[in-house]
Amino acid sequence: MSASLNLPRWYDLHTHFRQGANVASYIADHLAMGCAGALAMPNTQPPVALVNGPETDTAWSIESYRNILLNAGADAFDQLIIPLYLTKDTTPEMIDQGAESGLLKACKYYPPHGTTNSEHGVPMDYWIGGDVFRALEVNHIVLCIHGEEHGLFGSDYFDENQTAESVFYSDRLPRILDEHAELRIVCEHITTRVAAEFVSNATERVAATITPQHLLYTVGHLIQGLRYHLYCLPVVKFEQDLAALRKAVTTPGQTQFFAGTDSAPHTTKATECGCAAGCYTGGCAPQLYAMAFEEAGVDLESEDGKALFERFLCTNGPAFYGFSPSEKLFELRREPSQVETLQRDEGPLVPLPVGMERELTWTLTQD
Ligand code: DOR
Ligand code: ZN
Repeated sequence: MSASLNLPRWYDLHTHFRQGANVASYIADHLAMGCAGALAMPNTQPPVALVNGPETDTAWSIESYRNILLNAGADAFDQLIIPLYLTKDTTPEMIDQGAESGLLKACKYYPPHGTTNSEHGVPMDYWIGGDVFRALEVNHIVLCIHGEEHGLFGSDYFDENQTAESVFYSDRLPRILDEHAELRIVCEHITTRVAAEFVSNATERVAATITPQHLLYTVGHLIQGLRYHLYCLPVVKFEQDLAALRKAVTTPGQTQFFAGTDSAPHTTKATECGCAAGCYTGGCAPQLYAMAFEEAGVDLESEDGKALFERFLCTNGPAFYGFSPSEKLFELRREPSQVETLQRDEGPLVPLPVGMERELTWTLTQD
């Protein structure tokens, strides 16, 4: 008999469902991988930059985007959180009203021009000490942060001693915590030793999501063959960073790290002079996370090993956002399974681990 793990359905607390014809397929892929609920990022076109009201040409509201997602199959989730995209038009009143109506649970900081559809973001200095962050504190709204310093170039942006992420966690995050003593923060998709250690040493009001790709791959995997479906932001880093991320998620009893795949579909990856950032892991994220835990030395067939994995995948995230873990189950069985390139309306979509050295070593089933 091959080993099998029965787990509570898990929560993906950072993903992208986008807009348009393919939304239903992205949601279906999430439901098919035992996902009980999702935090759907607001960097749509147009961005989700209002709380209430109908769509306009320049902004959707959480209310209108939520209806789009519910009509596309997200009504099958137990939880659906849509953060508000922080833009120059965000006001403290919007935060107060959103909190009161119950629609607003989280806000998202994007570094301007730092990643896909992030051009509406405003630099972090504008927010620190300001009334919008104060309103988040007072109303217990979570701040989700894409933690990369904006506007860095060349070796300031990325080399072995410094990256945009390490700068952000060394310089900005300490200031945010000093200025906003009550603010609850999720450091999204962390990739570096600096960020992992920062979060581990912070109080429990600070948590982090980690993607499957950042627990499995380093920049060598990306560069060798220029496998650009592994290109996401923040970009995969070095061996010492991977080791620190693995240590963070496998520390017994840890409560601050949880699953957030950053699954980010792009049907056109290569552009004329660049590459769209985002890896797609819809359909296979739990299998990839299981492989990463095993590569980190965790015996998933032991009780302790399974408990570590369950914390990360199924319970820490809901606890941070204030809801209960799922009571329904899904199963991972140690048996290889195949992932193939998907054909979507706008073109092909290449999920991980297609093209990588290792195929999935786990198979997922649910009732
Ligand atoms: O790789 C990424 N893709 N990082 C982000 O921050 C955004 C995401 C996307 O929306 O494609
Ligand atoms: Zn993302």
